[in-house]
Amino acid sequence: MTEQKTDALANLSTEDRRFEPPADLAADANVKAEAYDRAASDREAFWAEAAERLDWGRTWDQVLDWSDAPFAKWFVGGTINASVNCVDRHVEAGRGDKVAIHWVGEPEDDSRDLTYADLLDQVSRAANALTELGVKKGDRVAIYMPMIPEVAVAMLACARLGAPHTVVFGGFSADALASRVTDCEAKVIITADGGYRRGAPSALKPAVDEAVAKTGDLVEHVVVVRRTGQDVEWDEGRDKWWHDVVDTASPDHEPEMHDSEHPLYVMYTSGTTGKPKGILHTTGGYLTGTSWTHWAVFDLKPETDVYWCTADVGWVTGHSYMVYGPLANGTTQVMYEGTPDSPHKGRWWEIVEKYGVTIFYTAPTAIRTFMKWGDDIPAKFDLSSIRLLGSVGEPINPEAYVWYRENIGASTAPVVDTWWQTETGQILISPLPGVTAGKPGSAMKALPGIEVDVVNDEAESVPNGSGGYLVLREPWPAMLRTLWGDDQRFKDTYWSRWEGLYFAGDGAKKDEDGDIWLLGRVDDVMNVSGHRLSTTEIESALVSHPKVAEAAVVGAADEMTGQAVCAFVILRESALGDDGAAPEDLIEELRKHVQKEIGAIAKPRQIMIVPELPKTRSGKIMRRLLKDVAEHREVGDVTTLADSTVMDLIKGKEGAPSSED
Ligand code: WT7
Repeated sequence: MTEQKTDALANLSTEDRRFEPPADLAADANVKAEAYDRAASDREAFWAEAAERLDWGRTWDQVLDWSDAPFAKWFVGGTINASVNCVDRHVEAGRGDKVAIHWVGEPEDDSRDLTYADLLDQVSRAANALTELGVKKGDRVAIYMPMIPEVAVAMLACARLGAPHTVVFGGFSADALASRVTDCEAKVIITADGGYRRGAPSALKPAVDEAVAKTGDLVEHVVVVRRTGQDVEWDEGRDKWWHDVVDTASPDHEPEMHDSEHPLYVMYTSGTTGKPKGILHTTGGYLTGTSWTHWAVFDLKPETDVYWCTADVGWVTGHSYMVYGPLANGTTQVMYEGTPDSPHKGRWWEIVEKYGVTIFYTAPTAIRTFMKWGDDIPAKFDLSSIRLLGSVGEPINPEAYVWYRENIGASTAPVVDTWWQTETGQILISPLPGVTAGKPGSAMKALPGIEVDVVNDEAESVPNGSGGYLVLREPWPAMLRTLWGDDQRFKDTYWSRWEGLYFAGDGAKKDEDGDIWLLGRVDDVMNVSGHRLSTTEIESALVSHPKVAEAAVVGAADEMTGQAVCAFVILRESALGDDGAAPEDLIEELRKHVQKEIGAIAKPRQIMIVPELPKTRSGKIMRRLLKDVAEHREVGDVTTLADSTVMDLIKGKEGAPSSED
């Protein structure tokens, strides 16, 4: 990357909409502007204060030990139990009757409320049951479950025992489960017979059986929650029903305090190579970072708020902002098992209305889907309880941001665009809702206590108005400690590019005010005729066209320009003719629109109208596969796609009109 200011970067500065924090929210905000200065004057004291919000067995001797960088130790000498902080302490403080989880199953009328007292009862029983099955402190436990309350109970029971969990997303294959179980040598797997998805039961246990068969004699027990009641194969001795072992166990469990750096969990995420990386998070710093940011960024008022994060617990968002952060803060939250369109496209909004959700946290891909379905769907529901909206997972296009604010947030709720990663454990860049005026499309600023910068190839901080690489200059409490079993890869992946800097892998830009705009992974940054263009930005330009619902852009090899812009576009239903076809001339109209929005350099060489985009199960667009199509190659490995038939639909459109001028 160069420091050259491109047309594309210049365009970002033309976004001049500003949304000031609502006055009442600002007046009563948990975190005020002074926090930035306080943290800057003594970062460690700032994080120590955040840690004091938790209950510790023994207080730490040292806030941070960075002497063996990049291997950090936070709250050295302290002891703490994550499960006690998420459960017991709320009950002890007299809040046992408060609802922790309003659980909503996908089948209608299938719902359950769990109070903090219920959670304590179940987590204690589950901890006793796991102990009975031979799980000891330090042993790893794999969790492969649908979105049911038992998944949170299982995680907290593991945390209570000091047995690191590795949650594997229920949509992953038996192979993916087997490779993760093998890598971290899990001796127990907790699963369910199945879950509900799109109106039908889907099975989980057969994949576990298949995975266990691939892992030799590693796995000693499989604990199975009965969710759907479907028939399952049974291995007597190895397999145990959850209701047999947990419900019959004692509800009293005396928790041990663990060292602050005791491993809490391993979460696998994909890297640039085929082998997934086992991101290791430990206890004290992680719980400090997630609970403080959850309280600060979402301005959480535990007495009155009803929070809903729509992520699956199989991803880091489900760990930090559904289980550990919110429960440590004593939050009342919604947990939903199914998909947003089951049994109808208003299901999420129906849930918001029913439970009076006040804080809602989701991903841009979901927001764009709702835009495609139409404004009339959320308009049918009473969403007036919502006071704050969050976004995570990818850069949010300005149009999607504004749509979200207007249609879900009644044009008043602030949108916090939160940047972070599986590796960072906690949100690092985000507006503070009572302090920061929002700019649609910008994650704005590093949170207090976080040292973010944008640098050039020489690791020099770029001036405002320029772009470069996003880095972290100082350690933060919830940072990953290493990759499970692979310290060298940890150093090579994150710390080797520049001495002393954590390289996040993202490109970013500082605007004229110094606010941060994420530009996507650096491998998604294109170079067209020597100009740096972000896929995100062209996608935003396309989505800002009234006929476009969703767009994905890739840089395809081009003899003349190095790379050329190729776009894949899903149209809004309202843009299609009665015959379901795209109007003539639309492709040219869209190319001109991008030219107008960004400049001639960004005008796509080719636009394909497609019915779907290839997405991973976590909703990330797999641009690599689109690049294969754009470069007329055999399409690569599709096994991580949520729907592997999507590529056939897209390839079928290859003959669609395009223009080469
Ligand atoms: C990558 C991390 C963080 C939990 C979910 C994803 C992208 C994430 C944003 C945002 C722009 C974002 C980055 C990052 N990303 N949030 N608000 N704006 N980009 O976790 O799978 O570890 O992915 O997601 O590219 O590096 P993940």
